[in-house]
Amino acid sequence: MADKGGKAAQLTVDGKTIELPVYSGTVGPDVIDVGKLTSEGYFTYDPGFVSTASCDSLITYIDGDEGVLLHRGYPIEQLAEHSDYLELCYLLLNGELPVKDEKAKFVDTIKHHTMVHEQLVHFFRGFRRDAHPMAIMCGVTGALSAFYHDSLDINNPDHRRITAHRLIAKMPTLAAMSYKYALGQPFIFPRNDLEYAENFLHMMFATPCDDYKVSPVIAKAMDRIFLLHADHEQNASTSTVRMAGSTGANPFACIAAGIAALWGPAHGGANEAVLNMLAEIGDEKNIDKYVKKAKDKDDPFRIMGFGHRVYKNYDPRAKVMQQTCHEVLNELGAEDDPILRMAQRLEKIALEDDYFVEKKLYPNVDFYSGIILKAIGIPTEMFTVIFATGRTPGWIAQWNEMISGPYKIGRPRQLYVGEARRDYVPLKAR
Ligand code: SDX
Repeated sequence: MADKGGKAAQLTVDGKTIELPVYSGTVGPDVIDVGKLTSEGYFTYDPGFVSTASCDSLITYIDGDEGVLLHRGYPIEQLAEHSDYLELCYLLLNGELPVKDEKAKFVDTIKHHTMVHEQLVHFFRGFRRDAHPMAIMCGVTGALSAFYHDSLDINNPDHRRITAHRLIAKMPTLAAMSYKYALGQPFIFPRNDLEYAENFLHMMFATPCDDYKVSPVIAKAMDRIFLLHADHEQNASTSTVRMAGSTGANPFACIAAGIAALWGPAHGGANEAVLNMLAEIGDEKNIDKYVKKAKDKDDPFRIMGFGHRVYKNYDPRAKVMQQTCHEVLNELGAEDDPILRMAQRLEKIALEDDYFVEKKLYPNVDFYSGIILKAIGIPTEMFTVIFATGRTPGWIAQWNEMISGPYKIGRPRQLYVGEARRDYVPLKAR
């Protein structure tokens, strides 16, 4: 927990010195509690919250300079190597790795919540067939609130628990349904004899006429993709979930808000944007031209999947994703995939270019994930839906952490730079 004893910072402004408490966490930078500044007549100013800690949290720690990512203290590399997605969901929600019986019970619980209410199917029918699946996911996830009146008391830990299980269990089902709807194919029910990632791929690619035999390598890669996306501290979509939750909104509405925030190309939409960027570059001979565009301040083009607000080193998830990419393409006999080759060449050029080195721009989690998903046969517009599915346990664990303790409604202030007070001018006098 935070060490809130003793240390203080002095802020001197307009000849007045204000003492502000300083707190230390388990690891990472100390924080300066500026809560009392309003009573001293000041606000802090930090557009984009670059230097702002919005909360205490016990869930995930990132050291951007060292490229470290810990979930409840466990390094992402070890979790990717030895754990699996549902075990990580349990860890994020409960704070400890499950023992054998706890794990078996959790997996069984999730399995028995994978179906959605049959009437939810009608929500899909209202969308055009060419609707972006993220638009569908925003809609149907929020609509889940309408189906679970029995568990919307956010102050009841049992309601929060069953809601966490329902969301983790149903997101793959809703994701696969949004894909099948776009194809005009019938929805495929989940199966309780399949593991989580295998079940998702089954719902995505099986039809009533043909079963879908999932390759264990592909299923493991899909499970690892979910695992690598599970949580990431106070990123934009998680902060959105917390902000929505701070008003007392129900958890389904909060997760729908998180899905909407994730959709942007600067955040979870980057994996889709990486593949669109590689398609735009088209050929390795154009890479230098596009790297030049990325460095041009007047050109909006950016190398998608590169750069990060926190990581000023290689995103540890990107390293695992790159290794997974090779495993999948090798399994599919597509090791010399031209898109992968172009991505690797783009990465090499960027990592050696002074602009990217000076700005500490490295590949992030989104750079390789899209190449794997495309190789598996998942269409580009589904990539952010996969990200949202993977991120659900993180969103719900962070929401639960806030709601289960003391919290205040999120309400930032501003620096007002508009007109000073002025009187209304009647129309005839303008
Ligand atoms: C995710 O927060 C999280 O944890 C997010 C995430 C998670 O798991 O939740 O990790 C998932 O969102 C990963 C990021 C995916 N987005 C992209 O790959 C889009 C491309 N990246 C950029 O848009 C950017 O790097 C951000 C949005 C990710 C970070 O933006 P910041 O922290 O606000 O940094 P910035 O945009 O101010 O960039 C700093 C400088 C700028 O140049 P200067 O104004 O200082 O001269 O670096 C440049 C930028 O122009 N820059 C890039 C670049 N990213 C930043 N230049 C070229 N290509 C890029 N990709």
